[in-house]
Amino acid sequence: MREDSILNPTLDEHDLHLRPRRLAEFVGQQAVKERLEIAIEAARTQDRPLDHVLLSGPPGLGKTTLASIIAAESDAGIRITSGAALERPGDLAAILSNLEEGSVFFIDEIHRLPRAVEEILYPAMEDYQLDIVLGKGPAAQSIRLDLPHFTLVGATTRKGKVTAPLRDRFGLEDRLDYYTDEELGTIVTRSARILDVHIEAEAAKVIASRSRGTPRIANRLLARVRDFAVARAAGLVDVETTDRALRVYEVDELGLDKVDRSILESIVHKFGGGPVGLTTLAIAVGEEPETVEDAYEPFLLQIGLLQRTARGRMATDLAYRHLGVENPGHPRLL
Ligand SMILES: Nc1ncnc2c1ncn2[C@@H]1O[C@H](COP(=O)(O)OP(=O)(O)OP(=O)(O)O)[C@@H](O)[C@H]1O
Ligand SMILES: [Mg+2]
Repeated sequence: MREDSILNPTLDEHDLHLRPRRLAEFVGQQAVKERLEIAIEAARTQDRPLDHVLLSGPPGLGKTTLASIIAAESDAGIRITSGAALERPGDLAAILSNLEEGSVFFIDEIHRLPRAVEEILYPAMEDYQLDIVLGKGPAAQSIRLDLPHFTLVGATTRKGKVTAPLRDRFGLEDRLDYYTDEELGTIVTRSARILDVHIEAEAAKVIASRSRGTPRIANRLLARVRDFAVARAAGLVDVETTDRALRVYEVDELGLDKVDRSILESIVHKFGGGPVGLTTLAIAVGEEPETVEDAYEPFLLQIGLLQRTARGRMATDLAYRHLGVENPGHPRLL
């Protein structure tokens, strides 16, 4: 993902303050919250660790946030790592054997776990056992170690890439979906309060409607609009200031940024509207195919600007209209 991408999680400003700590502060995703609440309460009542939880969905919707909330609501500690960081089975074995009893172990991007590392997880998740092979060849010996009881929380932007044996070992599986404008408005208002930004209710709605259904983007846009307001408008965030600021940051009425538009423009102008393959398209816009597929496409599909066919990606009529370009396939009857 490009450094300056608005979706880049490493750029989150004030993230630690804005991130909800408890389920009650976590806006939206009612059904997911209820299922988690039930599972956490049942585990607490029966004094056992919560079942393992797999969370999936596009970037910036709250997977990492929910993992910390699960730990907080279970009065448990949390240990955080990511699939790509666990290169060898020994890396995982070292963490597992040092977990605190009852704690949450969070693996971000769990679809990136190397196969050999993943296999260590199976007995660990099922029976809290660690299989260690000592020595090599015919003299090799396998021993089993007892592990502390723990809850694995896995997060992924690509559920399709999580192997079936791993998926089967999660007791709870939930998918986060894009937020409504109303929910995003609540998030913007809450964040503004925490950041001490003076924002009018209507301006919060404008930011919400241009956040592509994503809390991370809502917070990011709020911070940029705040900057603009401080530098150019004596600090007050009203609708006019918000509009002007978003124009400066090249976020359009639908919330599309430069990369979104460049994806649509490439399909329309370079590939005759499509279909065009993912890799070709990614090269045309200077992004990794994975970034285009995980971070940009889902929202463009959701709002009907992009279509995925067996032969590749196509721009829809709506995309042509949004770009203000005549669709040669469907000339207007006027
Ligand atoms: N439901 C929510 N209510 C309020 N704020 C939220 C909510 N979900 C996410 N946020 C805010 O958005 C930010 C991004 O969320 P988070 O890092 O949890 O997303 P993620 O799904 O883990 O993304 P990635 O796939 O990139 O790791 C959080 O720091 C938090 O401030
Ligand atoms: Mg995350």
